[in-house]
Amino acid sequence: MNTDPASYICEAIRSVPDWPKPGVTFRDITPVLQNPRSFRVLIDLFVYRYIGHRLDLVAGVDARGFILGSVLAYELNLGFVPVRKKGKLPFRTVAEEYTLEYGNAAVEMHTDAVRPGQRVLLIDDLIATGGTMLAAAKLLQRLGANVVEAAAIIELPELGGSQAVKATGLPLYTVCSFS
Ligand code: PRP
Ligand code: ADE
Ligand code: MG
Repeated sequence: MNTDPASYICEAIRSVPDWPKPGVTFRDITPVLQNPRSFRVLIDLFVYRYIGHRLDLVAGVDARGFILGSVLAYELNLGFVPVRKKGKLPFRTVAEEYTLEYGNAAVEMHTDAVRPGQRVLLIDDLIATGGTMLAAAKLLQRLGANVVEAAAIIELPELGGSQAVKATGLPLYTVCSFS
């Protein structure tokens, strides 16, 4: 690695044109995860940022946020809670709807996933329109969590999500910005 850690990660992300549909460039993190060195550098970037934050929990968003969130929680000696797509959690749940390009989706959490006042880091792989991250943050806040920061590897600022998250007052940390 002869660049700084963040540039090393951003350069390892694969851009796939016209997937899943024409005009969309898919930012694919699988090469970063597949290579043991870049996977470690990525997780260590987040560990370095959050080690002093006095967090209680890491919440990861289904599905790609689970990959990062669970490893990060383990490394920080914290518990992990899943923010799941609707219909997957077996116990009592709360749900928050969000808008997709076509139609609606929803995320859910167990009502006992966080206790009021717990300091939670919310993590996903990517923020585009911000719909997913904002719905997850609302869900955590409805359960009484103190969402200390939202984090993602990638932001796509042209889609407005990073601005929308910051506009709610929630701090946002991302490693790479792609336009
Ligand atoms: C992708 C990505 C983020 C979300 C970002 O998840 O992993 O969670 O979209 O888009 P937004 O900012 O416009 O909400 P997706 O639900 O497509 O699939 P996944 O299950 O592979 O994570
Ligand atoms: N989720 C939403 N937009 C995306 C993109 N351009 N690449 C990867 N995941 C995404
Ligand atoms: Mg996702």
